[in-house]
Amino acid sequence: MMKKDLLCINDLSPSEIEAIFKLAEELKAKRQAGIYETPLQGKTLAIIFNKPSTRSRISFEVGMYQLGGQAIFLNSRDIQLGRGESLADTARVLSRYVEGLLIRTFHQAEVEELAKEAAIPVINGLTDLLHPCQILSDMFTLKEKRGSLAGLKIAYIGDGNNMANSWMWGAAKTGLELALGTPPDYAPDADILSAATHEAEKNGGRIELFSDIYQAVRDADAIYTDVWASMGQEEETKQRLSDFAGYQVDQQLLRSAAQQVLIMHCLPAHRGEEITAEVLDGPHSIIFDQVENRLHINKAILMHYLG
Ligand code: CP
Ligand code: NVA
Repeated sequence: MMKKDLLCINDLSPSEIEAIFKLAEELKAKRQAGIYETPLQGKTLAIIFNKPSTRSRISFEVGMYQLGGQAIFLNSRDIQLGRGESLADTARVLSRYVEGLLIRTFHQAEVEELAKEAAIPVINGLTDLLHPCQILSDMFTLKEKRGSLAGLKIAYIGDGNNMANSWMWGAAKTGLELALGTPPDYAPDADILSAATHEAEKNGGRIELFSDIYQAVRDADAIYTDVWASMGQEEETKQRLSDFAGYQVDQQLLRSAAQQVLIMHCLPAHRGEEITAEVLDGPHSIIFDQVENRLHINKAILMHYLG
């Protein structure tokens, strides 16, 4: 059987996404009942991270452990990759020892190369372009809160970054309506916009771009935001703080959305920049439910790809 990789939400069909959600729901219920089964006993996940992480690293490591397997965290500085050994050789070597690879890095092309050369499943743990595991978890959280995704309107406000790009694929696969409110110079990836819009037509989804955030959030069921300067863009922080003025999710913006609007953020957050503390910590926020669901969804992803 051909191995499968999770490099982008587009690697999954709508029915595979449903299957992952169902598995996550079961795993969540079992954990709440104190039941731990060990379907990944004897299996190892290697985690190569070239950027920092709190949630992704911990939820994948703990998830692997709870499923009876183990995870090895490999900082690129500690393995020969950091001294110039190629990604291709690293992929071939790891394929002889472990059953799956999780990678977080800068360029999507690196993840693609690793997947091409590895004989085992490769999971994208975030690149500059995409963050598929986060979006799967966020769509699962929304579905849990609202019963179904089709027909819901999500307004993504802020930088057209890896989260915005991943939301476009998410909407394309699940029939969500996605309104992106970004400064024109920080629009999401144009190629993904066009491919995801095409895919959305098949599945009943819709993707629209706005520069007026009040228009973007009109009647939205959920407002999602993310940092203005992502990992690797630290030097642009000052410029971005000024370019994103007026793109903050605050209490006033919430009033244009649906009355029961849900507030979402992948974290880490910068209170007072992309979102006010009042909104992040307020009654509409489901941000820490999103955090918890990373564990359940990542376990479902591990079972789907390594099981
Ligand atoms: N949301 C997310 O991926 O967080 P980390 O960077 O802490 O993994
Ligand atoms: N856009 C953020 C997401 C962090 C989970 C970043 O890439 O830093």
